[in-house]
Amino acid sequence: MTDAPRKILVTSALPYANGSIHMGHLVEYLQTDIWVRFQKLRGHTCTYVCASDAHGTPIMIKARELGVTPEELTTRISEEFVRDFAAFGVDFDNYHTTHSPENEALTVEMFEALRAAGDIYTKTIEQAYDEKEGMFLPDRFVRGTCPFCKTPDQYGDACENCSKTYTPADLIDPVSVISGTTPVKRKSEHYFFRLSEYEERLRAWMKSAALDRNAVAKLDEWFEAGLQDWDISRDAPYFGFRIPGTEDKYFYVWLDAPIGYLASFKQYCERTGTDFDAYWKTDSQAEVYHFIGKDIIYFHALFWPAMLRGADFRTPSAIFAHGFLTVDGQKMSKSRGTFIKAR
Ligand code: 2FM
Ligand code: ZN
Repeated sequence: MTDAPRKILVTSALPYANGSIHMGHLVEYLQTDIWVRFQKLRGHTCTYVCASDAHGTPIMIKARELGVTPEELTTRISEEFVRDFAAFGVDFDNYHTTHSPENEALTVEMFEALRAAGDIYTKTIEQAYDEKEGMFLPDRFVRGTCPFCKTPDQYGDACENCSKTYTPADLIDPVSVISGTTPVKRKSEHYFFRLSEYEERLRAWMKSAALDRNAVAKLDEWFEAGLQDWDISRDAPYFGFRIPGTEDKYFYVWLDAPIGYLASFKQYCERTGTDFDAYWKTDSQAEVYHFIGKDIIYFHALFWPAMLRGADFRTPSAIFAHGFLTVDGQKMSKSRGTFIKAR
């Protein structure tokens, strides 16, 4: 039996370009690759794109430690990724990086569209600041004693012992992971995306998209709790794209990362003469599927469809979220010696 040929675009999550591809990653890339090969064998036009996720504080810090630029670091690591994926037969139709001209142009385009729609505003917030390093600290770069169970050396966002969440300001004896000094509180203006206005549109998308039960349950939980607006900016120093009209504000890595799917596909379209709009305009007849891990459902099932919808792009047909590879029932871990690189 044959179906009418379909146009299908498929992605796997974009790996951070600051480590190695490990066996946990392969759970995702191999299943996506098999699914894509199956669709191609059925005679559909199926395009599989991916890219390295190049931005953010951890990559900036790692490059600094190694004495190279973030561009050098992410280029080198991307080359390793490409070799590892090829060795496992993962056959992307295009592999790009989020630190690309295509991605910057699309990110600015979407941001401006959201701003024109009234979905972007600025607000001054207070955050942990490292005076020695001259930088604001992401939650994970502050460690201290859990305010609830008093376990020492916990991250600034959640306790690994009692699982409670909090902010770095709640930690007892907080220290900056970068300099070891005590952070101070400092104010700064941030850009926010009005996710709170998107509940109805997201509920409609959730009904139309083929989401698995776990993702639907998660979404229901988040709707129940009430959608919070999303902080999409970070202060310099930061490795990312500068926000137009600012001197020292950058787009948060999680804003431009999923746009990297579009950017990689754009590069593919330019190389092969494929019609980008046929896939991404609101009236598109094509299908778009994202394969991801369950830890990033929040970004793909809330922020991403909301951004696409608000900026007049089509939304994903479905999201396929998988669980984690475990070793002896536990998440792979470097310290337990169960971290297995793909190589
Ligand atoms: O969680 C991660 O490893 C991210 N680098 C995934 C990004 S997926 C997409 F949104 F870019
Ligand atoms: Zn605790």
